[in-house]
Amino acid sequence: MTELTFVVEPGGALRGRLRVPGDKSISHRAIMFGALAEGTTSVGGFLEGEDCLATLRAFRAMGVSIDGPDQGRVTVHGVGLHGLRDPGEPLDMGNSGTSMRLMSGLLAGQAFDTVLTGDASLRRRPMRRVTEPLTQMGAWIEATATGSAPLQIHGGRPLDGIDYPLPVASAQVKSCLLLAGLYARGVTRITEPAPTRDHTERLLEGFAYPLRREGERTVAVTGGGRLIATELDIPADISSAAFFLVGASIAPGSDLLLEHVGINPTRTGVLDILRLMGADIEVLNARLAGGEPVADLRVRAAPLRGIAIPKELVPLAIDEFPALFIAAACAEGVTVLTGAEELRVKESDRIQVMADGLIALGIAAEPTEDGIVIQGGALSGGTVESRGDHRIAMSFAMAALRASAPILIRDCLNVTTSFPGFAQLAGAAGLQLTERELT
Ligand code: S3P
Repeated sequence: MTELTFVVEPGGALRGRLRVPGDKSISHRAIMFGALAEGTTSVGGFLEGEDCLATLRAFRAMGVSIDGPDQGRVTVHGVGLHGLRDPGEPLDMGNSGTSMRLMSGLLAGQAFDTVLTGDASLRRRPMRRVTEPLTQMGAWIEATATGSAPLQIHGGRPLDGIDYPLPVASAQVKSCLLLAGLYARGVTRITEPAPTRDHTERLLEGFAYPLRREGERTVAVTGGGRLIATELDIPADISSAAFFLVGASIAPGSDLLLEHVGINPTRTGVLDILRLMGADIEVLNARLAGGEPVADLRVRAAPLRGIAIPKELVPLAIDEFPALFIAAACAEGVTVLTGAEELRVKESDRIQVMADGLIALGIAAEPTEDGIVIQGGALSGGTVESRGDHRIAMSFAMAALRASAPILIRDCLNVTTSFPGFAQLAGAAGLQLTERELT
């Protein structure tokens, strides 16, 4: 298959109860920490999407024995912090920025050389944000002239801890440096400009590695410790639930229950933003599962209004903006996003690609350097390009619930990077989606 188009019929509502697949960020880290731990880690709820499978394959190539995945169950036979082996070939991270950025940190601390590469989108994404601080720690990494992948990581270099204020609010960069810090002499201390997802910190604690949180924005590790295997229950991914939160909010007659969703406070910006817009979302049965807060989310259709999105919520909803832009298109009035220039360097330039798609559907959308201005209105049907960006494809699929004619979304193969089975699950909830394959 070389091309996958989603054809989504207009109208309908989302109803019933469903569980979206496991959290992508936690699934990557479960494999990484499980591999570097001493003992056997069993994982439930693992996301069997292409991104996390790229991480899993990379560790297998480095000699880690991993059973599964089988319906979300994975068993990782850890080799300890110093047990990885030279893969003898480049590691292909596919479309996955998380795999590449986090692994560059832990590979900088190995005794062998590695090459990290990926697909055309990943090879365009900025990597200096990790290679520069790693170089400060003593690593030797070669990138392209523009600072992107392939990354050639030379092993056998002693690393020293650094005190590093992150120039961008990025959990990937923070996590990369913490992973390198496990191999460094002394203390690696990272300070964020704003809080970002803290799954790495929670998992380090879960794997019994000492970690110091200093206030809300600083975290420190000392190299030379050990990770001890554990058991993990990965919640459903709030970033995947976000499409359904938006779909059910905008489609009259919707009433949907999303089960066992991760509601870590560093990830719930989407709930706050949708509620500010007037969404009707109830958080039910909140509980802890494996060190992460989870809940069932009940969402019912509600009239939405445009808002100025508070800047402090941006890092807490960074992956949910494509879906939120669809909510804005269906809201009454204007929605203004600022402080979100990071969206331009995701799997695609999400500001431009979303604006192009919204305009193709008759919505007034104006990209700005660091955000967008969207005037709510009536969605027509039409053809939109996802540019191979999974979250853009799924967001426009939900837009059809309020469109006046079918929406065709091109280039949807990468939906499997984060949400295998999206078309089937959305179909069961009431979205009228068919897949058209071209070879
Ligand atoms: C992620 C961090 C975010 C997010 C990505 C997953 C992670 O990226 O967009 O999908 O798992 O750490 P940045 O750190 O680049 O903001």
